[in-house]
Amino acid sequence: MEPRCPHFGTCGGCRLQDIHYEDQLARKQAELSELLARIGWVTTVPMHPSPQEWYYRNKMEFSFQDVYPAPAEGEDYLLLGQKIRNRWDRVMNIKECYLLSPEAPLLLAAVHAWALKEKLQPFNLHKRTGFLRHLVVREAKNTDERLVNLVTTPGKLDAAGFVKMVRAAYPATTVLWGTNSGKSDVAQAEKTEVLYGPGVIFESVLGKRLRVSPYSFLQTNTRGAEALYTRIRECIADARPQNLLDLYCGTGGITLSVADLCERVMGVEVIESAVADARFNAEQNQVTNVDFMAAKVEDLLPGLAAQKVVDVDAVIVDPPRSGLHPTALAALKELAPAKLIYVSCNPKAMVEDIRKMSGLYDLRLAEGFDLFPHTDHMEALAVLGRIY
Ligand SMILES: C[S@@+](CC[C@H](N)C(=O)[O-])C[C@H]1O[C@@H](n2cnc3c(N)ncnc32)[C@H](O)[C@@H]1O
Repeated sequence: MEPRCPHFGTCGGCRLQDIHYEDQLARKQAELSELLARIGWVTTVPMHPSPQEWYYRNKMEFSFQDVYPAPAEGEDYLLLGQKIRNRWDRVMNIKECYLLSPEAPLLLAAVHAWALKEKLQPFNLHKRTGFLRHLVVREAKNTDERLVNLVTTPGKLDAAGFVKMVRAAYPATTVLWGTNSGKSDVAQAEKTEVLYGPGVIFESVLGKRLRVSPYSFLQTNTRGAEALYTRIRECIADARPQNLLDLYCGTGGITLSVADLCERVMGVEVIESAVADARFNAEQNQVTNVDFMAAKVEDLLPGLAAQKVVDVDAVIVDPPRSGLHPTALAALKELAPAKLIYVSCNPKAMVEDIRKMSGLYDLRLAEGFDLFPHTDHMEALAVLGRIY
């Protein structure tokens, strides 16, 4: 089919836009079913569609780049947009995009024009020189709150001029300036200054109001996450655990949405600001039976498993793409909760981890959630039960 976006084919963002959405879902369903068949799960796995096919993302990170070796006659020296397909070091201007909101391209155009007018230098990933690095945009879908974070190397910025330009083009509720002198190409900052507004946004997920700081994790498809969390609630409701561990909990989205079904829940997350958000979110939503710990799961879990101070009867894991750290996996086997719920954005890694637990656990349920329409990515949910 005709892709909606004119950047299709060049932009690294949406690889499947030329395939009808129903066919994208069928493809992801086949892929997940085939992966799970490798560990003996022979039923076709349901693939839940994203509630929104377009404008489903609540966060995007755009990059600045110079034009090298040199811009052609009459061409701008600066690019602002997405990485070109299969190129970590090449950025293309984005004039249209259907992932965030209709307003986002207007923001990109305004920031691009402002950077040229101010004669600011974009960062060069090879030489590691230049000022402008990333433009991070977060848009809550269930509230009107919108965050813009300009990430640069340390230097001078006409902050008032930047805020004025952003707000004239785009309904930002907060504007920040982060500085990052590091080598790696990540939209993170060592220091962040709030230039306008509260410095955070609030998103509502299944009726819980969640504070999200600029560098904290939140599932990028809010409405898709609500569908996933609703299913997790159904899986937990069966077990009614006394003590639930929510490992890799981010800002506490899952923790807070299942807390009313458990006696006590403890969330574990490595990013301190996300843990601070999670604690704040528990308090402001009057959820009193949760605790959060800032730690690496692989550091904390072996101690918990060895001490067996509390009887943990259910665990939710939602690890990064790499899957469970070997130490975390070994500790989980030692802890051996009756129910283990595995949420994953990398089903391949999830299947490998489940394989390593065979003999102790068997698979009771597996489903897919398309949180990333038009891309190859998907979210998987697996429920495991202890065999003995
Ligand atoms: C896929 S996100 C899951 C977030 C959460 N479950 C949710 O639905 O919003 C993974 C989270 O794990 C955290 N993380 C990554 N490595 C970790 C580790 N070794 N120990 C604890 N947390 C980690 C990340 O910061 C991120 O917040």
